[in-house]
Amino acid sequence: MEDCVNFTNSAFEQQRHGNGCIGLAAENSAALRVFENFGQMRCCPNNGLSSEWMAAAASSNTTLLKYFYPEDPLDAFVKGEIEKTYRPITKGCNLAPNACWCFHVRGSPIKAENPDAWKESDVGKAIDPAATKLDSKKRQIKLHRDLYANIDASSVNASSFVPKAAQVNDSCSCLVPLQPPPQESTCLFSDMRPGKLLAVIAACRRLGITHIIEEGRFGGLSALIYAIHGFKVTSIELLPIDFVGRSLKSAAPGVIQVEGDGAVLVPQLVAKARRDGERVAVIFDGEKRRAAYKTYEKVRDQIHLVVFDDSYHENFHRHLDRHEEVAWHTNLDRTYANKYGTKADITQLAPFEQMLKRAAVKLKRQQPDLFRLKDPVTKKWIYGAQQRLRRLVDKEGRLVLPPGGLQDMAHYHFVLVRGGAWKLGDELW
Ligand SMILES: C[S@@+](CC[C@H](N)C(=O)[O-])C[C@H]1O[C@@H](n2cnc3c(N)ncnc32)[C@H](O)[C@@H]1O
Repeated sequence: MEDCVNFTNSAFEQQRHGNGCIGLAAENSAALRVFENFGQMRCCPNNGLSSEWMAAAASSNTTLLKYFYPEDPLDAFVKGEIEKTYRPITKGCNLAPNACWCFHVRGSPIKAENPDAWKESDVGKAIDPAATKLDSKKRQIKLHRDLYANIDASSVNASSFVPKAAQVNDSCSCLVPLQPPPQESTCLFSDMRPGKLLAVIAACRRLGITHIIEEGRFGGLSALIYAIHGFKVTSIELLPIDFVGRSLKSAAPGVIQVEGDGAVLVPQLVAKARRDGERVAVIFDGEKRRAAYKTYEKVRDQIHLVVFDDSYHENFHRHLDRHEEVAWHTNLDRTYANKYGTKADITQLAPFEQMLKRAAVKLKRQQPDLFRLKDPVTKKWIYGAQQRLRRLVDKEGRLVLPPGGLQDMAHYHFVLVRGGAWKLGDELW
C-alpha cells in the first residue's frame, strides 16, 4: 500500500484546501504521524515540499551550501563578507550592553537616544490605549499578542520579554553600528539560522520565485540575504529601526522597505507583484502562526509559497494539518534536520555565541553591580536583581539580545506551505 499522498491541482482549482500532505522523511513518517496525531499522509517523493523534493532543492547548488555551511565557521565569522558567506550579524555591528529597550521600538533601540520610544511601542499602548495610531482596539490587542508571540517556550528569558508597564524602566542589550554617522557602518542582523535561510532560498529557486515579500524586518539581514541570492525583496516593518533602514539601503538599494502593518500591506503588495507578473513567496516573521494564517488566507491563491516562522507553538502544525495544507516543517523532516538542523547550526553559530559570552564577561568586569544579587552589608537578596541579571545574561553565560533572542537561534523552526498559485509543473526542475 502506498504510504504517501500525491498532490494534485484539483484541490486549489476547486477552491478548497484539501488533498494536502506533510513533508516527512520515509524512515520515520509512520511513527511521527502517530506521535503528532496528524490526519494527513506524508507527501510522495516527486511532490513539491516532500522530504525528497526539499533534499534535492537544498543540495542542488554547492555554492549555496558553502555559503551557509562554510568549512571553517570561525574564519567565516572573523573575516567573511556577508556577500560571500553567512554570518548572523554583519561586520559593522557592535554590542550595546544594558543600554537598550527590551521590546521592539521605532527609531533607535538605544534608550538614551530615543527616550520616548516606549510611548509608541506596545507597552506604551498598553498603558495608554489612546496613544495608539492603529485603527481599532481589537487590532491593537491582536498586534500586541503577535509582537510578543515570537517567544520560544524553551527560552530561559521568555517570560521577561512579555511587556509590562514596569518594562519601561528595564534595560537590555542590543546590536548597533560599530561606527556612528556620518560614516555609519553597516549593521544588520537576523535570527534566521542557516538551515532555515537555506530552505527558503532552495525552495524558492526550485519554484522559480522572483519576489520575496517579508513581513517583519527587524535587523534586516534576512532581507539582505534573500537579495544577495538574486530575489526581488520587499520588506515590511511595523516599527522600523532607523540604522537598519539606512544599512539595508546602502547594502541593497533594490530592497523595497515598506513601513506599516503586514496584515494590511501584504495583500496590497502581493496584488501589485502579481499584476507585475511576478511569482511570489511570502515570509510571515511579524504576525505569527494563526494571525499570520488569517492574512495568508487573503493571498493564498496569488502566491506560490508561504513561510510561517516560529511555527512550532500553539499546535500550529496541527492547525495546518486540519486545514489540509501541504506543509514541510524544519523539525519534522528527519533527513533535512540531520543535515541542516539544530546540531549543524550550533556549529556554524558557535563563534557568534562565543562573542556573546565574551561580552557578558566584559560587562561583569565593567559593571559588577549589575551582577550582585545580595547586599554586601546585610547579605540579603536584592529585590529584582535576579530578574535584571537574567535579562542581561542567560544561564549559559551569554549576553541576551531581546526581544526574540539571537542566542539559541539554532533551536528555532519554521514551516513552508504550498501556496494556491503553485500548480503541477511550476517547478523549474
Ligand atoms: C522576529 S522579528 C523579524 C526578524 C527578521 N525577519 C529576521 O530574520 O531577522 C519580528 C519583527 O516583526 C515586526 N512585526 C510584528 N508584527 C508586525 C506586523 N503586523 N506587520 C509588520 N511587522 C510586524 C516586529 O516589529 C519585529 O521587528
